[in-house]
Amino acid sequence: MKTRKEAPLKKDPGQRKDGRIDALEARLREAEGALAEAVQARIEAEQRARDDVDARVRERTAELKGAYEALQAETMKRREAEEARIRLAAAIEEAAEGVAVISTTGVVQYVNPAFSRITGYEQAEVVGENVGILGRVDAKTYASFMTTITGGNTWSGRLSGRRKDGTAYEIEVVMSPVRDASGQIINYAALSRDVTEEARLESQLRQAQKLEAIGTLAGGIAHDFNNMLAIIMANTELVLDDLEHMEGPRRNLEHILKAAQRGRDLVKQILMFSRKTGHGRKPLALTPLLKETWKFLRSSLPTTIEMHADFRAGADSVLADPAEMQQILMNLATNSAYAMQESGGDLTMSFSTVFFGPADPLPVADMPPGGYVLLTVSDTGVGMTDAVRRRIFEPFFTTRRAGEGTGMGLAVVYGIVKAHGGAINVESTPGKGASFGVYLPLTRVSGAAEGTDDAKPLRGGHERILFVDDEELLATAARMMLERLGYEVTAVTSSTEAWRIFLGGPMRFDLVITDQTMPGMTGTMLAEKILRVRKDMPIILYTGHSDTVSPEKAQTLGIRAFSTKPVVRGKLARTVRRVLDGEPM
Ligand SMILES: Nc1ncnc2c1ncn2[C@@H]1O[C@H](COP(=O)(O)OP(=O)(O)OP(=O)(O)O)[C@@H](O)[C@H]1O
Ligand SMILES: [Mg+2]
Repeated sequence: MKTRKEAPLKKDPGQRKDGRIDALEARLREAEGALAEAVQARIEAEQRARDDVDARVRERTAELKGAYEALQAETMKRREAEEARIRLAAAIEEAAEGVAVISTTGVVQYVNPAFSRITGYEQAEVVGENVGILGRVDAKTYASFMTTITGGNTWSGRLSGRRKDGTAYEIEVVMSPVRDASGQIINYAALSRDVTEEARLESQLRQAQKLEAIGTLAGGIAHDFNNMLAIIMANTELVLDDLEHMEGPRRNLEHILKAAQRGRDLVKQILMFSRKTGHGRKPLALTPLLKETWKFLRSSLPTTIEMHADFRAGADSVLADPAEMQQILMNLATNSAYAMQESGGDLTMSFSTVFFGPADPLPVADMPPGGYVLLTVSDTGVGMTDAVRRRIFEPFFTTRRAGEGTGMGLAVVYGIVKAHGGAINVESTPGKGASFGVYLPLTRVSGAAEGTDDAKPLRGGHERILFVDDEELLATAARMMLERLGYEVTAVTSSTEAWRIFLGGPMRFDLVITDQTMPGMTGTMLAEKILRVRKDMPIILYTGHSDTVSPEKAQTLGIRAFSTKPVVRGKLARTVRRVLDGEPM
């Protein structure tokens, strides 16, 4: 630091040197010097202090910066953790699987929206409650999963339950214990997948297979039973003729005949359920047919049942038997009426056209995609439990009192629908009614009416007939029937024997009547052989419902007429006469 330059004092030569002035000057200079020094010292001290503060500030700044950086790193870490948590929470909230967290004491701590969707319980309704609120599992399942999860293991399995609204659901559950850092189980997490729809389709498929098996069995039994009935009926008719003037026995025989006829009707139903080929099928517009049937139902059902119909089908052509289509509607409607007989209700029929693309979900397990007419019959009756619903299509299954129902109604509907390549869907809640949806595949062709067989008086003749049926009693009865009509009949019980007799004199017969199902050689095989020898030989083939010969196939073989069992007098007489006279069938 520079000191101030001493300025020389002015001297006035004219003035007297005065010692006091000098002294004053000296003191002044001294004071000036001291002041300068003090100022200097002060400046230096201040400088030092400033330097000191600067250093301290720098130090503190550095410290703060470090702390700030650490804080920022921590915040970042926390934010990442929070983001990860949010992502996880969102994933759980959005998941299609139901997620539930349950405390070790069985209290629900968290459920996600999917869980609410599956069970019908909202988050607020279950969180804080015991899991028991969701329904109980059976004791065995409960024991199995309790031992598994309390043992620290993961339990998985299928559980069924009821939604809050009472409808049933089925879930596949994986339940695992959740542990804290020390390994202690703090709660359980349950992951559940809704498999209600899958389970429904599976059970439908199982049921369809079961019904198919029953159908095959019933068809087989019915076939034989039909033959026995035919024998009973044919013989009864014969004896009735013989006893023309004996009132008493005739009455008894008429009862036998009536019972046999009822038996035949029942067999017809069983066969309708079991058979695979439809005989009377043709392209048919369903709307007018259903309208007519509906009108009939309206006049026959009690007025406590309010009826509503909704016809909306654009396309309504199906390849079907009109009588069978009517039967479907009648059977469904009478069931509904029965379900509402106590307190009345609404019976609704709707009829529409639906299309299922290859990717569309189908209402019934094994139905192929495509166009269908959908006939729905719904009621507000007593409805049914799941256990009943699973069995309703079984033949002879009924919940009605003994003698009130045969249990064949729905079995027949099922058989008809199946034979038409269709499907049935049933929904029902006990106490709330039932709804049956019948899907029949659409066909493009539009319908043409078909004439019915009119009852003509029986005409006989004198021609020679070779009759073959392996059922001896049937062959005998048929022979007697035909003989009474005037024919000359040779009846045999084996197709090989028939063939031998025919070969012995191909021109000895005017007509061959043969059964289809016979051991060794079937009716069609026999017919083929005979026609090779005599191309013009008239042949009538008759078949049971379970035989696989179609009228078309019989025709291409050259068989003149085709008849189905049981062989009854009127039908047989008419067919024989027509074939012999060369009339169109
Ligand atoms: N609309 C319905 N509402 C409630 N239960 C029904 C309904 N339709 C059918 N069921 C149940 O299905 C069972 C079987 O029906 P199905 O028509 O096969 O036989 P059924 O009506 O008992 O006797 P039937 O041979 O006289 O028709 C019924 O006994 C009934 O328990
Ligand atoms: Mg019924």
